[in-house]
Amino acid sequence: MSTAAIHAGWRADDMHGAVTPPIYTTSAYAHRDHDSLKELFARRCDGFAYSRSGNPTTAVLEERITALEGGIGAIAVASGQAATTIALCALLEPGSHLVASELLYGGTTEFLDDTLADLAVTTTTVDPWDLDAWERAITAHTRAVIVESIANPGAQLVDLDAISAIAHAHDVPVIVDATLSSPALYRPGDHGADVIVHSATKYLCGHGTTIAGLIVDTGNFDPRRCPERWARLTTPNRRFGVTFADDYARGCSGLLSYARAKYVTDFGTTLPATSAQQILVGIETLDLRMRKISADAAALASRLHGSGGVDQVNHPTIPGRADAILADRDFPRGTSGVFSVDLSGGEAAAAAFCDALELFTLAVNIGDARSLVCHPGTTTHSHLTEAQRLACGVGPGTVRLSIGLEDLEDLSEDLQRGLAAARAATAARTRQSPVPAHHG
Ligand SMILES: Cc1ncc(COP(=O)(O)O)c(C=O)c1O
Repeated sequence: MSTAAIHAGWRADDMHGAVTPPIYTTSAYAHRDHDSLKELFARRCDGFAYSRSGNPTTAVLEERITALEGGIGAIAVASGQAATTIALCALLEPGSHLVASELLYGGTTEFLDDTLADLAVTTTTVDPWDLDAWERAITAHTRAVIVESIANPGAQLVDLDAISAIAHAHDVPVIVDATLSSPALYRPGDHGADVIVHSATKYLCGHGTTIAGLIVDTGNFDPRRCPERWARLTTPNRRFGVTFADDYARGCSGLLSYARAKYVTDFGTTLPATSAQQILVGIETLDLRMRKISADAAALASRLHGSGGVDQVNHPTIPGRADAILADRDFPRGTSGVFSVDLSGGEAAAAAFCDALELFTLAVNIGDARSLVCHPGTTTHSHLTEAQRLACGVGPGTVRLSIGLEDLEDLSEDLQRGLAAARAATAARTRQSPVPAHHG
């Protein structure tokens, strides 16, 4: 893992011997003659024509994430949101049905509920731990199921092997948003996932500098097994003059060739070369960072558990968690730095907690080298209904923590400062509005 994180996709270049991948800031690529460009557009050879659909720096990132995930190909795009959008567009058509875990990042839920609904795609959401619910939800029109490997913000884990087995029995591909786990902690393809999406903005970048997304084909999905269902891939495409599924015969992803030719090009969700280079630098230290961050997050979760003013700590290692068995079985290297804490005093306690922290930065991001805090109920999950929020473990007193690379004891001290402020705010509110005594 560490070796691939540093070497996959790049050898010192032939032209100047650059040790790290150079940033190719070019819009277009010069070709030696008419036929060379003609062959490229006819998809009879590989190469670059125009950076909206491919760039040499970005290609190194694509090759590196493919190696890290053990897949057959990847596409780098402008954001994690673009990765989810393009992966879904490549599989769904108007009238298609999608089954989604109810434990998804708020932005994904909004996309399914609003934008995909506008495009006549219906979604059934299920409790990801209820395997019968996955089975019941899949219909003849279901074209994908989507889950997060580790859910944001409550750090719930899923039994991906079981969910994949159910979906595959119906020839339905499984998309996994593996943003929180990253390939350093978990490889969804080894547990049945067909397509992996990453918000590379988070741990792959690692330093909060860049917005980026990745789509990986794990090689588990083959549309040729069900050619009528995936006719867009298995029959000649009029616009591009090729049958995308033919790519599988040469070990490449027909699904990603289709997604790149059509959706990345049409939507223009290109990742700039400068951003690709920043993600490549981040990936070099991914393994080291994820080990320390995961260990420190588990230690802090355990210290917060049972503290005054805390109703519940949402981390897989906390006693009583239904997914503890999955943490032991599938996540031996840890479960990332993201978890949430339900404070007893509701939003007022959460606000006091966030405002009192001196080391944690109040910001709606995760996976930074800096520790971050936010109140999901009024930010990342604020556009959801209250029922949707509660289903994904976001209550009025929930705060999300993203543990960074600082010293554990400094972070612990800061969290104690926050808890003291939360308890003081709760006590002040109780004095102002005493709960009326109940009679009878
Ligand atoms: C789990 C998860 N998936 C996807 C996204 C969207 O990624 P981006 O902000 O890079 O578009 C986020 C953003 O917070 C996320 O947390």
